[in-house]
Amino acid sequence: MLTISLIWGIVVAVCFCLWLIIGIRRRCIGEPPLDNGLIPYVGCALQFGANPLEFLRTNKRKYGHIFTCKLMGKYVHFVTNPFSYNTVIRHGKYFDWKKFNFAVSAKAFGHRSIDPSDGNTTENVHETFIKTLQGDALNSLTEAMMENLQYVMRPLDLSKTNPDGWVTEGMYSFCYRVMFEAGYLTLFGKDLTRQEAQRTFILNNLNNFKQFDKIFPALVAGIPIHMFKNAHIAREKLAEALKHENLRKRNNISELVTTRMFLNDTLSTFDDMDKAKTHVALLWAAQANTLPATFWCLFHTIRSPEAMKTATEEVRKTLENYGQKISFEGKPISLSQMQLHDMPVLDSIIKEALRLSSASLNIRVAKEDFTLHLEEGSYNIRKDDIVALYPQMLHLDPEIYPDPLVFKYDRYLNENGKPKTNFYCNGIKLKYYYMPFGSGLTLCPGRVFAVQEIKQFLILMLSYFEMQLIDSQVKCPPLDQSRVGLGILPPTYDIDFKYKLKHR
Ligand code: HEM
Repeated sequence: MLTISLIWGIVVAVCFCLWLIIGIRRRCIGEPPLDNGLIPYVGCALQFGANPLEFLRTNKRKYGHIFTCKLMGKYVHFVTNPFSYNTVIRHGKYFDWKKFNFAVSAKAFGHRSIDPSDGNTTENVHETFIKTLQGDALNSLTEAMMENLQYVMRPLDLSKTNPDGWVTEGMYSFCYRVMFEAGYLTLFGKDLTRQEAQRTFILNNLNNFKQFDKIFPALVAGIPIHMFKNAHIAREKLAEALKHENLRKRNNISELVTTRMFLNDTLSTFDDMDKAKTHVALLWAAQANTLPATFWCLFHTIRSPEAMKTATEEVRKTLENYGQKISFEGKPISLSQMQLHDMPVLDSIIKEALRLSSASLNIRVAKEDFTLHLEEGSYNIRKDDIVALYPQMLHLDPEIYPDPLVFKYDRYLNENGKPKTNFYCNGIKLKYYYMPFGSGLTLCPGRVFAVQEIKQFLILMLSYFEMQLIDSQVKCPPLDQSRVGLGILPPTYDIDFKYKLKHR
């Protein structure tokens, strides 16, 4: 017994020594300061995961503006000086920004690699996204979303069943339900042959989406989906609904989806299920951030009487200027992109709500060994290392945003009520001060649509409904840190509110 323990002890000690000798990376001349962490492979991942902002702030104080951390076997160089963001973004030729994203997408959604260099497809998805989410295509998306939001909201008239007209609901589940349904119909159209079953169909999809999205952080961390039976089934059901044979039964499908359905990709090795899974990826990209973002915009607006008053006034004026009547029975409200664009108060509210709730990680993988020239010096980066920006550091920096944790609805407005774009750090104007949508080549192609659909939601809510928090003194719920790195963080718990129709 003693001998076996001794042998095991020796094996562990030898492994530990081997790890110390060959497993630990040593900092070479010209490289950023390095933190290997204490646990082999895991490195600093546990400390980072527990509180990324605090972890990065502490390391910044310890090492300076750039430092390297080992996270789950990868070496990540965090660049924390906002004046260096521009330089990182400009070093695009040294980075492969697709490799990481394509790998995560294939792992999480279960489709074959969409990297054209792997030979499964000739589609340049990035170009497709830009072509079908921006420019002319955006007009029809915006129009469809406004129509669908009103289609979804109209049955919310529960005044007939509720004597005092008030309906009480969790605000997050309300925003989730309304935006998911309207967003799904906007991307994937309506099935006109089974209208009565439409709502049940969407609700089933919503439940499957929720189930799958819950484990998304684990999938990104590399845990196989087979470990999560229910989420796996939910993902397959989402994909089944988006197979082309089912999509063909739907009308008014967005260009974003039709372009990909009818792509002349004769070299493609994707089967129907693979293609459907890439549509699930699209559904996730379009919804996973928008749903919590909509909650935060509505929550902060209702919670701040000043924001509520000023926003309601801006909405009233806009509708009046463009001859729009508020009536659930009559013609739906319709505003063009240009008209939506000219609403600085709502823009400022949305920006401020996203600043407070966003925790995305902008990741780039080094294609080769190279030297990164930053404001604060030059640093050698090794091939396959990751260079990361964590914009929450700048969003919550008190130098840039005084009282950074306080919601100020007019933070992005000048004294004359026009959009404010001058933000400073140490007295110097910043080029990058607001980055919930990423940066450079990984900048979200749906960002304009995202802001517009949230704005449309707010316009309709402020026009049609009276709204109140059940507890007018309610505290702001904490952000769900388990999703750090993925974008907008949801609240850790829901907040009850009540609403009733303004005009009967
Ligand atoms: C508040 C809402 C949204 C936020 C905060 C957001 C944020 C982001 C971020 C940070 C990325 C880059 C991720 C990376 O670095 O790799 C991204 C990518 C993407 N987003 Fe959004 N997004 C939002 C809404 C939308 C919407 C509504 C759509 C489409 C309808 C959309 C479509 C996409 C797509 C397709 C990509 C991947 C682009 C590519 O890899 O080429 N997003 N988004």
